[in-house]
Amino acid sequence: MPSLAIDTRGVSLRFTSGPDAVTALEGVTVPFRHGELVAIMGASGSGKTSLLNVVAGLEVPDEGEVRVGEVDLASLDEDARADVRLHEIGLVFQDDNLLPVLTAQENVALPLRARGWSAAEAVGEADAWLARVGLDGMGARRPAEMSGGQRQRVGIARAVAGGRRILLADEPTGALDSATTRDVLGLLRELADDGVCVVVVSHDHVVRDYADRVWRMSDGVLIDSAAGKRGVARHAVQA
Ligand SMILES: Nc1ncnc2c1ncn2[C@@H]1O[C@H](COP(=O)(O)OP(=O)(O)O)[C@@H](O)[C@H]1O
Ligand SMILES: [Mg+2]
Repeated sequence: MPSLAIDTRGVSLRFTSGPDAVTALEGVTVPFRHGELVAIMGASGSGKTSLLNVVAGLEVPDEGEVRVGEVDLASLDEDARADVRLHEIGLVFQDDNLLPVLTAQENVALPLRARGWSAAEAVGEADAWLARVGLDGMGARRPAEMSGGQRQRVGIARAVAGGRRILLADEPTGALDSATTRDVLGLLRELADDGVCVVVVSHDHVVRDYADRVWRMSDGVLIDSAAGKRGVARHAVQA
């Protein structure tokens, strides 16, 4: 069994605005392992982004635990949670979130510089990751000079550069056509096969083809899970 990267247990998250309270997550328990791509599917408003946000330490649950390795994120203050993200958790969004004034290489190198890497080390690592995601020679381009799929690849390189082994992606293919969607999901699958813990929120059913496991969310609750096609294929190999 691959090693546990993140363990969420009994996680509930509520938002209160005025007299109204919204329960975004209710008793969510789900393990995320290195070497697996887990998909979270569900209708709009079902709590998918809320789940990624608590797993990333961007929101603190009202109840339950989110363990990254040995650490419960809820026991950390905001700065310490940001530090866990900087070192261990890469985030990818529908909108690529790249800094438009920076080149692809600079975008990937920036979090490494924030971690204290030298400029030369950070640039070397950025170039290696850009090549790994299929963007060899494109490091000098700015986001506006790249296609949507290329920009997502830069974002993925930024997420995992420097040895971050947890990648959380919220609708990463929501703005892409179907061929590019498959390219990007294929890349995320390769990273999982290399040992990264990959969690993909999506409402595109094609994600099943790349996932080890697919969880369905409804009204803040994980209602069931099924093996994705890759999960089924693996069991067939193991059997
Ligand atoms: N900052 C917030 N304040 C109040 N309610 C929120 C906030 N963020 C999300 N919600 C509510 O929590 C529920 C889950 O939202 P979300 O996690 O964004 O779902 P999804 O990503 O599946 O569309 C929804 O009812 C949403 O309106
Ligand atoms: Mg969402």
